[in-house]
Amino acid sequence: MADLAVRLFNTIFRNPVTNASGTLGYGREIEPLWSIDTLGAYVTKGLSLLPHHGNPTPRISEEKGGMINSIGLQNVGVERFFADYFPLFVSKKTPIIVNFFGFTEEEYIECASRIPPHELIAALEINLSCPNIKAGGLCMGKEAQSVFRIIRAVKRVTPIPLIAKLTPEVTDIVEIARAAAEAGADGVTVLNTMPAMAIDIDKGSLFIRGGLSGPPLKPMALKAVSDISKAITLPVIGAGGIVDYRDALAFFMAGARMVQVGTATFLDPFAIPKIVRGLDAYMEEHSLSRLAEITGIAGC
Ligand SMILES: Cc1cc2nc3c(=O)[nH]c(=O)nc-3n(C[C@H](O)[C@H](O)[C@H](O)COP(=O)(O)O)c2cc1C
Repeated sequence: MADLAVRLFNTIFRNPVTNASGTLGYGREIEPLWSIDTLGAYVTKGLSLLPHHGNPTPRISEEKGGMINSIGLQNVGVERFFADYFPLFVSKKTPIIVNFFGFTEEEYIECASRIPPHELIAALEINLSCPNIKAGGLCMGKEAQSVFRIIRAVKRVTPIPLIAKLTPEVTDIVEIARAAAEAGADGVTVLNTMPAMAIDIDKGSLFIRGGLSGPPLKPMALKAVSDISKAITLPVIGAGGIVDYRDALAFFMAGARMVQVGTATFLDPFAIPKIVRGLDAYMEEHSLSRLAEITGIAGC
């Protein structure tokens, strides 16, 4: 078997494939089909300081090649996650990346400070796509200055490595990645969903406003991964429209060190195990002993 292991944030991940936040529930939902230990790391659903009910239905719109979701960051809150859901992971060997968010800067900081350092927690992933209620609903991830401020503040309250998850809804994503790096982030995830909407043409009214995910994002995400990998030295985790191992390879060749798979799981719940097996077979077939041999080779 080829060695798919990746060492990042002082953790050895058995392979470079994780789920994307919010697309594999609290982990236990997938266990009847395949073990969490198939993943390089499990990324939690976005956690907030307090439990959050999310948005009313409809929450999903299937689009050609992808989907729009308006889950609205529903979650049980950080404390209940650690009381009720974390024990599953303690019985496993897979590192965890804890995704979190806040509706104000204070909430981000308070939430991060409540995440207890634990040998299984490899990193925190800060979702910068969340609306800031105090700033009139403006998304904090859209401005380099606010990204710098929030990352620096969170770094002060937690010793756990911090990954900045970037929104594509910006003019210059490289500038945002640079701000995250300068503020002390340890890595970046590129990228989150793209704001979108669907119309119910039979009713002549809005059906949903939410985030577009899946294959329509892939070419844009690849370019962002490539541009950011060249601009900063932090590890880049690629996300956006990956459905098979060939998509994952394109992200590695563009410079990603790991990849996240989200929407693909909704189409095929075995997409992630298939991607891991596909990467393994590719490495064997091409006599590659380490993933580093192809990382960034596209040089574009
Ligand atoms: C149903 C759903 C829920 C999501 N929830 C979160 C979340 O809680 N936090 C977050 O940072 N991203 C969330 N995302 C974004 C994904 O983690 C990922 O960045 C995005 O969907 C692009 O990857 P994909 O095309 O493989 O789905 C969610 C996406 C979907 C489809």
